[in-house]
Amino acid sequence: TREAKLDLVIKHIKSFPDFPSKGILFRDICPILKDPGALTAVTDLFEEHVRQTHPLVELIVGLDARGFLFGPLLAQRLGVGFVLIRKKGKLPGPTVSVAYKLEYGEAEVEVQEDAVAPGQKVLLIDDLLATGGTLYAACELMKKQNAEPACFATMPYLWSTCSTCCYCHGSCGPTNTHY
Ligand code: PRP
Ligand code: MG
Repeated sequence: TREAKLDLVIKHIKSFPDFPSKGILFRDICPILKDPGALTAVTDLFEEHVRQTHPLVELIVGLDARGFLFGPLLAQRLGVGFVLIRKKGKLPGPTVSVAYKLEYGEAEVEVQEDAVAPGQKVLLIDDLLATGGTLYAACELMKKQNAEPACFATMPYLWSTCSTCCYCHGSCGPTNTHY
């Protein structure tokens, strides 16, 4: 059942207080990847969620780095392609990027210019949301490429209200269900 799968996934997320700096509670998803049952469960949950909420999705777009761990598995299940949004400076050829603010400093996300087609329905995947800044920048990047991004963030029990999403402005609730 869905509850059993959620339970299994939650059991495989470890919390580390004060990492990487004081006051931050780090959610470590490595144990999920180490356990084939938990990895199947989390992929099942993503698949069921996307089939219900975004049945028309045409492309999965994963965020560097931990979005790369789950995105391709989900894309394979759905029979669609996978595209990488990377931290700046890692992708060859013409690229487009969006800069965004971190708690301290700035970061920039980048995608290859020809990675998404205008009007393509893309679904963004990452392991979790903290401030939502990374996912927001990724949405902006997809809009810049005229794709139709869905707000979507991961780890079922961490599916939190996406307070900074350009689509819902915080109204989409715990499962971020919409284009
Ligand atoms: C983490 C996490 C999300 C992001 C969430 O990535 O994987 O991508 O932070 O934070 P935000 O909502 O405040 O933007 P991080 O860049 O720390 O490392 P990673 O490369 O291991 O994914
Ligand atoms: Mg990340």
